[in-house]
Amino acid sequence: MSDRRAARTISPVLLGVEDAEWLPVTAGESGAAVFRSADATRYAKCVPAADAADLEAERDRSTWLSDQGVPGPRVLDWRSGDAGSCLVTSAVSGVPADQVPAEDLRVAWERIADAVRGLHATPVNQCPFRRGLDAMVALARDVVARDAVNPEFLPVDQRQTSGAELLERLTRQVERRREQEAVDLVVCHGDLCLPNIILDPRTLDVSGFIDLGRLGPADRHADLALLLANARETWTDEEQARDADLAFAERYGIALDHDRLRFYLHLDPLTWG
Ligand SMILES: Nc1ncnc2c1ncn2[C@@H]1O[C@H](COP(=O)(O)OP(=O)(O)O)[C@@H](O)[C@H]1O
Ligand SMILES: [Mg+2]
Repeated sequence: MSDRRAARTISPVLLGVEDAEWLPVTAGESGAAVFRSADATRYAKCVPAADAADLEAERDRSTWLSDQGVPGPRVLDWRSGDAGSCLVTSAVSGVPADQVPAEDLRVAWERIADAVRGLHATPVNQCPFRRGLDAMVALARDVVARDAVNPEFLPVDQRQTSGAELLERLTRQVERRREQEAVDLVVCHGDLCLPNIILDPRTLDVSGFIDLGRLGPADRHADLALLLANARETWTDEEQARDADLAFAERYGIALDHDRLRFYLHLDPLTWG
């Protein structure tokens, strides 16, 4: 049985979390099984024992980030054993930002820029985690060596190219990207896509960030690349997308480096698998 299917058979109750009613949440990018408590105040993320380290990383990062005053889930419970691991967190109330229509995302957009700037302004020298370029390239090497790249995560025009070739193209840039990273390291979310940003559906303010398993010091372009590309799926046309990118850059306070964005956008799909 694959890990992914194994995860589906795990539940918070099985792993010893108090016997509340837990409803499966189908959305989510990873193979983890995610549940919401019936009263909607808590989420439980469960993984098989083989993935315990990833969930432990998410637990520690969630604790650290809430101590920094950045809005996100609080850690409420943690269970780990032979059957798997379960992380219970407080619900960040609202809707994931990929679930709102373009006009609402546009209203929330500057507020998202503010929230991301706030996250990136967290004191990086106090951040005990690692997720920088070298760590991501090492992860990509492992995924590619195992031939585990998921073609669905790749841009359409890269799906016919081998993972090894895609990685080789990126490797040529690594030295330059490492130099850029070294002079401008910030605390990145690490998987900054719209489903991991929760919005208050009434005010369209940012309620918080979730899914913090890859948080750590990195080039801010790593986060911005994912966010801008993912938001493109909500914007209705190229003009709106261009306007949104400019508005984001202005509000956040950055001159976007499009080559660097493309590098991080192409590296990301090689790191999952
Ligand atoms: N603490 C939380 N507060 C609000 N929503 C959550 C929380 N945890 C999970 N969710 C919901 O469940 C979905 C999947 O959880 P997530 O941690 O992002 O899993 P994955 O790693 O599989 O993407 C999220 O996109 C969000 O809709
Ligand atoms: Mg997620």
